[in-house]
Amino acid sequence: MRIINLPIFSVIKNHLIDYPTPINLNYFWGFGSLAGICLIVQIVTGILLAMHYTPHIDLAFISVEHIMRDVNYGWLVRYVHANGASMFFIVVYIHMFRGLYYGSYTAPRQFLWIIGVIIFLLMMATAFMGYVLPWGQMSFWGATVITNLFSAIPLVGSSIVYWLWGGFSVDNATLNRFFSLHYLIPFFISGLAIVHLIALHYHGSNNPLGIYFKIEKISFYPYFYLKDLVGWITFSIIYLFFVYFLPNYLGHPDNYIPANPMVTPTHIVPEWYFLPFYAILRSIPDKLGGVIAMFAAIIILFFLPWLNTSMIRNIEFKSISKKLFWLLLANCIILGWIGGNSVEYPFVEIGQLSASFYFMYFVCLLPLSGIVENYFIISNIKK
Ligand code: HEM
Repeated sequence: MRIINLPIFSVIKNHLIDYPTPINLNYFWGFGSLAGICLIVQIVTGILLAMHYTPHIDLAFISVEHIMRDVNYGWLVRYVHANGASMFFIVVYIHMFRGLYYGSYTAPRQFLWIIGVIIFLLMMATAFMGYVLPWGQMSFWGATVITNLFSAIPLVGSSIVYWLWGGFSVDNATLNRFFSLHYLIPFFISGLAIVHLIALHYHGSNNPLGIYFKIEKISFYPYFYLKDLVGWITFSIIYLFFVYFLPNYLGHPDNYIPANPMVTPTHIVPEWYFLPFYAILRSIPDKLGGVIAMFAAIIILFFLPWLNTSMIRNIEFKSISKKLFWLLLANCIILGWIGGNSVEYPFVEIGQLSASFYFMYFVCLLPLSGIVENYFIISNIKK
């Protein structure tokens, strides 16, 4: 049998070469392939780092310094990996907002969206555990604050926290298991990304017009490889600019101080991509309430396909939904800004307003705007 006839090649041919793609996709549709590239870059650089990193509380910090100073191109591999996490989140956030704008999450692509939200959750877990590995001050205190949130759960809270830690504080057992999971989860994400792609190809891509039938299609190769290439090159320039010229800009200077359980930093802040959720957590004065709100902010995304009541998929043609979308985007940026500020006037109040708007958008404004716009569409058709 000729090797080219093996099923694996027909799968690759169907999904990556011949895939019938709507001709009108714009550059925002390139962010999916870009997310795939980010995932591969993170896995490859992560494996290289793991060859020199030591997951022990006495050695982790200096093993990272060893990578930076002694390993050939270790500094490059580390900066590509550390900045890669930020780049991956930028890409995935744009990918998600593209989905929101063009209604790509509505029927028949609900399953595709749900897989996406699971990937997003796993990405957050991976990034959180990765940040603990250099065992700097922010690593240690970030891990302590976030894992401690589970203690808010009534009755079993403290037991869960000790179980997560593998002891009675964030310590060697915690660092070891975080390393193990940080290495493992990206492979789950890779599997899910393949399921994501298969789910996409089952119904076909949405497109900027949001129409389902009668949209002309062409093969993915070579047309969309070339179009995606423009995004890949632009993205690489921005990515490498950070790696070479601002390698620590997106990190926190305190993480260059070795972890010290006896000294608490004045401001414990997570990485920028967690800040909107951190703001929601802190907008509620009660610990349990804050934890519930923070998780609810992500869990609500699972229900999005059913919260959208509109008859028309994309919001380009819907003036109310369109304005609400931009408000939501601005609100998420405000939440991010609030998450990076200290808990005092006026940040607390602004955070509470923004957190309320976030939930109101999904629970009230999205379903209601759909109903109102449907009414206008139907009355226009009747005319
Ligand atoms: C590892 C992370 C991810 C990878 C590698 C990935 C990959 C892709 C790829 C290659 C596409 C097709 C190209 C495109 O439409 O952009 C796609 C489409 C899509 N993705 Fe993702 N994705 C990821 C995360 C997510 C997340 C977190 C969500 C949402 C929560 C999501 C929702 C969607 C939706 C709704 C589509 C369909 C777009 C359409 O047809 O209009 N993805 N994804």
